[in-house]
Amino acid sequence: MLEIELCNIKMKNPTMLAAGVLGSTAASLNWVARSGAGAIVTKSFGLIPNKGYSNPTTVEVTGGIINAIGLSNPGVENVKEELKKLSGSVPAVASIYGANPHEFSVIADRINGEVDAIELNVSCPHAMGGCGAAIGQNPQLTADIVRAVKEKVRCPVFVKLTPNVTDIVEIATAAEEAGCDALTMINSLGPGMKIDVETARPILSNRFGGMSGPAIKPIALRCVFDVYEAVNVPIIGVGGVTNHEDVLEFLYAGARAVQVGTGIMYHGPGIFADICAGLEKFMAEKGYKSVEEMVGLAHL
Ligand SMILES: Cc1cc2nc3c(=O)[nH]c(=O)nc-3n(C[C@H](O)[C@H](O)[C@H](O)COP(=O)(O)O)c2cc1C
Repeated sequence: MLEIELCNIKMKNPTMLAAGVLGSTAASLNWVARSGAGAIVTKSFGLIPNKGYSNPTTVEVTGGIINAIGLSNPGVENVKEELKKLSGSVPAVASIYGANPHEFSVIADRINGEVDAIELNVSCPHAMGGCGAAIGQNPQLTADIVRAVKEKVRCPVFVKLTPNVTDIVEIATAAEEAGCDALTMINSLGPGMKIDVETARPILSNRFGGMSGPAIKPIALRCVFDVYEAVNVPIIGVGGVTNHEDVLEFLYAGARAVQVGTGIMYHGPGIFADICAGLEKFMAEKGYKSVEEMVGLAHL
């Protein structure tokens, strides 16, 4: 009942692990796969190891968390070893980042054949060295990166968009015209900040970070809704999902699959099985036979 197909990739349900949460090692990715996710996405990685920012890198705020991890990762060659240890029980997506089209294409080339799809992170609000949202705020640069990666790999290429733009449809359309296979939206919102009332200092070492969790869901939904009306490629919704009702909202807005990040921090990896049980019950009650039937219903 919950099976979907995303860019010809078969998934047993529409839930996916979002990049950056439990996605650094094969052990944690396999754990999420065993817990019921329909697909897994790695933490974003680059060409060379990156230590990221010093602690504190995350802080809880009303409605979610703010993080400025700075894309810490062990680099493509080390991640490749982890990818070889994946159980293969569910499709795996590699999230990659870089500073320019060439860097993205080199990384994509090195993991070609190791994963079912590649997600281009052009949207991190706290990345170092011009690797973040500055790319995803520029339609031309985003398109150049999509083209460079598509020239190197045969697997589907997703582009993860930032909500921190004047017009997300412009960026989505540029990515689609450049040949991307799906759009993932949204990356964390902001940057935002939290200040310690005792010390009067920003709490995060980077001072600013990306906001995630339930508070950003209305914005993520609006982004999916707007882009659904403008593009033909499938959309993967992400932002603030903690239960099956959140997933339903994303499907109605036009998403075909939905990723969960911060929700795992609240509920653990069991959240995937809980969401699927909730979806199945809802669909049985309403008489839906497939997830596909619910996609885009809010537009009718
Ligand atoms: C701790 C943390 C680390 C993240 N790291 C990444 C990352 O490496 N790459 C990426 O594309 N998004 C990253 N994200 C963003 C999430 O994938 C997701 O787009 C965002 O958090 C909104 O979804 P959520 O509200 O379900 O967390 C990270 C989010 C969090 C909370």
